[in-house]
Amino acid sequence: MRIAVAGGTGTVGRHVADAVTERGHELVLLTRSAGVDLVSGEGLDLTGVDVVVDVTSKMTQKAAEAQAFFGAVTRNLLAAEQVAGVRHHLVLSIVGIDTSPSAYYTGKLLQEKLVQAGEVPWTILRATQFHEFATQILGVIGVGPLHLIPVMRNEPVAAREVAGHLLDLALKPAAGRVPDLGGPQEEKMVDMVRAYLKHTGRTGFVLPVPVPGASGKAMRNGTLVTGPGAVHGRQTYAQWLAEQPQG
Ligand SMILES: NC(=O)c1ccc[n+]([C@@H]2O[C@H](COP(=O)([O-])OP(=O)(O)OC[C@H]3O[C@@H](n4cnc5c(N)ncnc54)[C@H](OP(=O)(O)O)[C@@H]3O)[C@@H](O)[C@H]2O)c1
Repeated sequence: MRIAVAGGTGTVGRHVADAVTERGHELVLLTRSAGVDLVSGEGLDLTGVDVVVDVTSKMTQKAAEAQAFFGAVTRNLLAAEQVAGVRHHLVLSIVGIDTSPSAYYTGKLLQEKLVQAGEVPWTILRATQFHEFATQILGVIGVGPLHLIPVMRNEPVAAREVAGHLLDLALKPAAGRVPDLGGPQEEKMVDMVRAYLKHTGRTGFVLPVPVPGASGKAMRNGTLVTGPGAVHGRQTYAQWLAEQPQG
């Protein structure tokens, strides 16, 4: 199969791209670094593509920016898919986006809505945060050696396992909204960050911070973990961390 991976150099996208070639399929990378800007549509050509896997992202805390990004990327992909006769649009979304009012999630909701309303047969997989998310958070909210970490229940899953699951779905016909994918167990974000700092020999203090407002409440009350009917990855955060370089 000829499989296009939009965002195929990102945290999960690079694993999707690896899985495509490892399983003997033809990879088409859709990223700016590969000369394709999915916001403007520049360089986008899906000739001969069977399936598009959308794992693009833009880090933002602003709802307007999130909606502009996911709206433009999705509209451009769907339009190009129709021209090229692509049979399957598969997108990775996030568990809990309809009940947690985060700015970024408004973009993800728009993305889901456009895909569902489009003409191209689709599959939507919602997953929980990746193991890598603890590292990403560490880089964003810090003041010198002090790391402010949200009080958050989550159920982290290995990005590599999410990618494998996405490719399994890509090789099947479009299936609509499929069961959510979570990790093997719940973890507290502060514990994950502390373990990461210890593993990498980094110093610093971790200060758990209850994020105010409705999105902070959703972080604490289990909105972002899977419910009944979900499927689960196998690799725990501790197992994933043991594979990461030390120091
Ligand atoms: N991170 C999590 O814990 C998590 C959990 C569940 C679901 N998700 C979802 O999974 C998806 C991927 O997340 P991620 O964390 O793997 O993202 P990421 O690491 O930030 O990677 C983003 C990818 O998008 C590409 N991209 C950005 N702007 C682009 C543009 N204008 N045109 C073409 N490509 C563009 C980037 O490549 P270039 O910079 O080269 O363009 C990169 O390959 C997102 O939709 C996210 O909502 C994430």
